Amino acid sequence: MGLLENKVAIITGSGSGIGKEVALTYAKEGAKVVIADFNEEALQVTVGEFREAGYTAHGVKVNVVNEEDVKNMFAEAISVFGQVDILVNNAGIGDNMQAAANVQDETWNRVMDINVTGVMRCIRQALPHFEQIGGGIIVNMASLSGVAGGRGGFTYTAAKHAVVGMTKNVASHYGEMNIRANAIAPGNVETGFSAKMTNIDQFGMKQALRGVSYMTKSGKPSDIANIALFLASEQSSLMNGTVLVADGGWSAY
Ligand SMILES: NC(=O)c1ccc[n+]([C@@H]2O[C@H](COP(=O)([O-])OP(=O)(O)OC[C@H]3O[C@@H](n4cnc5c(N)ncnc54)[C@H](O)[C@@H]3O)[C@@H](O)[C@H]2O)c1
Repeated sequence: MGLLENKVAIITGSGSGIGKEVALTYAKEGAKVVIADFNEEALQVTVGEFREAGYTAHGVKVNVVNEEDVKNMFAEAISVFGQVDILVNNAGIGDNMQAAANVQDETWNRVMDINVTGVMRCIRQALPHFEQIGGGIIVNMASLSGVAGGRGGFTYTAAKHAVVGMTKNVASHYGEMNIRANAIAPGNVETGFSAKMTNIDQFGMKQALRGVSYMTKSGKPSDIANIALFLASEQSSLMNGTVLVADGGWSAY
């Protein structure tokens, strides 16, 4: 019997990187997973791989910024699998390490849209459904930049602090309805995330990396997926509104 036997989980941004590994880990533990991503090719490949391996997976193309997409993602998940028990808000992008004086409006708006508004939209859709079915679990992918000040660009840091705030607010307001919301704050994880950054702000980068030698090691997506499994399972049943830092000691110094 897996830790998530017959649970239904939506994982945003699960066409690649950490989200894909979270989905795989959940599927191995018996969950039916909804692979939700705006990269249609990545999501189709992922769904194909999962089905081939014998897991139950359904793909939905969604841009978490778009309200209609998010509504459709939930409607489709409920129509295919009956209900949704777990929401992992993982979709996110970087801000090219732009320091405060160098923030471009376009970057600010896009990062805030995806990393903050997108999380809000998914939470807003999930809560009434969770209330209706008697409970639910939210796992938010924050970042070390959501709890520390100097490890990322200005916008990304602000956005991930917002994710931590949303996590605690939901835990506090909805805990009595058997709804849990917790967050993960990874340090550096080996995915395609950094490679997607372009035109990197050299000053922002230099400042953000000042303490990087205190990070004993980078993480693998599976390191984060194991934490996401713990937070989605009954093993963490008393935890609500927490942020688990997984940064190889980067912030411990
Ligand atoms: N990799 C790291 O070092 C690291 C560290 C801390 C936090 N994080 C966070 O972890 C999460 C996942 O990052 P990753 O490293 O796997 O990145 P990634 O770029 O490898 O994967 C992100 C996935 O999200 C999807 N996505 C992006 N915007 C989307 C949108 N608007 N709608 C739907 N899907 C969208 C992408 O298509 C991609 O498949 C992000 O929230 C990121 O901020 C990553």
